[in-house]
Order: sequence, then C-alpha cells, then structure tokens
Amino acid sequence: MNQKGGVGKTTTTVNLGAALAEAERRVCLIDLDPQAHLTLHLGIDAAAGPTVYDLLTDPDCTAAECLITARPHLSVIPAEVDLAAAEIELAGRPDRQEILKRKFEPLRDVFDFVLVDCPPSLGLLTLNALSMAGEVFVPMQAHFLALQGVGRLLETVRLVCDSVNPSLRVTGIILCMHEGQTTLAREVVADIEEFFEQVRDQDLPWGGCRVLKPAIRRNVKLAEAPSFGQTIFDYARWCAGANDYRTLAESLLDVPVAPPAQSVEAKPLDIVTVVDAVEVQRCPH
Ligand SMILES: Nc1ncnc2c1ncn2[C@@H]1O[C@H](COP(=O)(O)OP(=O)(O)OP(=O)(O)O)[C@@H](O)[C@H]1O
Ligand SMILES: [Mg+2]
Repeated sequence: MNQKGGVGKTTTTVNLGAALAEAERRVCLIDLDPQAHLTLHLGIDAAAGPTVYDLLTDPDCTAAECLITARPHLSVIPAEVDLAAAEIELAGRPDRQEILKRKFEPLRDVFDFVLVDCPPSLGLLTLNALSMAGEVFVPMQAHFLALQGVGRLLETVRLVCDSVNPSLRVTGIILCMHEGQTTLAREVVADIEEFFEQVRDQDLPWGGCRVLKPAIRRNVKLAEAPSFGQTIFDYARWCAGANDYRTLAESLLDVPVAPPAQSVEAKPLDIVTVVDAVEVQRCPH
C-alpha cells in the first residue's frame, strides 16, 4: 500500500506475485483498486464473472467463485470500475472493514502468498486489505517528498493494529523506478533508511521495517508489459525489471527461484513459448 499514486504498487503486486508463482509457490493476487489496473495488467476479462465488488457487496458471493487462474500457480480475484461504488454501499455496515478477511478465510490455506493491490487512498478498501494482511509492503519512489504522507500511512496501520488486526506489521519498503546512480535518489534512500532506523526494534508495527533489496530499477519493459496483458516474465523474462523482481522474490523466500539471469538474445524461444502458453481461464470452482 501507499496512498501516493503511481509509485509502483500494481507493477510490484503483479510481478512479485508472478515471480513467486514461477518459484511454484501458490499465489493469489487480489485487485482491490477500482482502476482495475492489476486485472488489466494480467490481460483478464473481468466482465465474464463475479469480481471483488460482488465479493464485498453480495452476501452470497464466495471468494472461490471469483478466482481466475491466470498463470500456473497464479490465481486472481479481479476488479472492475464498479468497485468504486463499494465504499459508499458498504458505509453503513458495522463489519465493513472485515468483509474481505471473512470472505477469504476459506481459501487461506489454499495459497502460500496472497498479495493485495491497494488503491492510492486510505479508505475502506485499503482498510479491508489491512484487516486481512499479515504484512504491509510500501512501494516508494526515491523522490523529493517520498516520505510525505508516510506518517498518515503508518498511523492508519497502527489504528488497524490496535483494533481488528493486532499482528499486522509494516515489513518492507520497496524502492520502485529506482535510479540509483543519481545523487538525489541516494540522499532520499538515506533519509528513508534513517527514518526507520530511528524506530528500529521499538514496539511499533513498523519497528522492524527495512528497505528491501534489491531496489527495482526503472526499466521501460516494466511499463510496456501491461499494455500486452503480460507479466514481465511473459514479456521479457531476462530484462533488468524481471531480474529485479525475481531477486526480490528470492530474498523473500530466501532461496533462488530460477536459474541465473541470461540475456534476452540468448532466450528468444523461451519468451515466445511462454507467451503462447498463457491462457486465462476461469477456475473450475
Ligand atoms: N520499475 C519501473 N520502471 C519503469 N516504469 C515503471 C516501473 N514501475 C512502474 N512503472 C510504470 O509506472 C506507472 C505507475 O506504476 P503503477 O501503476 O505500478 O503504480 P501504482 O502505485 O499502482 O499507481 P496507482 O496509485 O495509480 O494505483 C505505470 O505506468 C507503470 O508501468
Ligand atoms: Mg495501482
């Protein structure tokens, strides 16, 4: 989550999720943003079945009914623009903050990782994500004002932690679109690290938060892949962006998830094969 727009939340959810799925972990991605960018990024036609809007607003809709198998080991609960109405429709319900958690409960053991792509706001949809999550990752760009708004973000996490989800922790900052060669980026990263160093090991939900390695470099292939409805591993599996998300997944799993990176030139057939093999199917549930 990050209420700041355009920092790399969706790109990270899709491609980190895809990297974990390539490592044969069972992954579920939940698109909780009315912009439905995650759904579009994966080339999914959400109109064909129930979406996260139905899950949140229709008492009879189950999470299993919403699941789409998008890639091997990678399932998705998609969104459409109608999700924007959910915040208003749910406003009067006393359990409004915990609907997603309750609805997803039967599927908890089906997956090794569940990644929720939050909208750029701290509203009811984000609160539903925080209520069901164990960990919060904050994608960020090392720009001037990168930490602006982070106080409100952390305060929101603390409120959820103090009420419905006491075990919630802010675990990692993920630097996105990173340009590590610039002085500005280096200074901002030092600021971010110092900010979290000051509270290291304090009894706060973000007391153990670290800037995760590696930073995700700015790489145009990551920006191109969504327009083809492809993950970075479908589109250019050995480009810098794919390598960064693969290494980030490895660091979370603490094991290598794929053979060492090879150049795009050395692997042209693999790319074609993967693209051809991709088929978006409804889950048999
Ligand atoms: N490492 C990267 N290199 C180049 N472009 C990137 C990178 N990461 C993300 N982008 C591009 O930057 C734009 C914003 O990224 P993204 O949509 O992931 O951000 P977001 O935080 O989800 O945005 P929003 O707040 O609108 O949901 C997109 O066009 C995306 O393709
Ligand atoms: Mg997004």
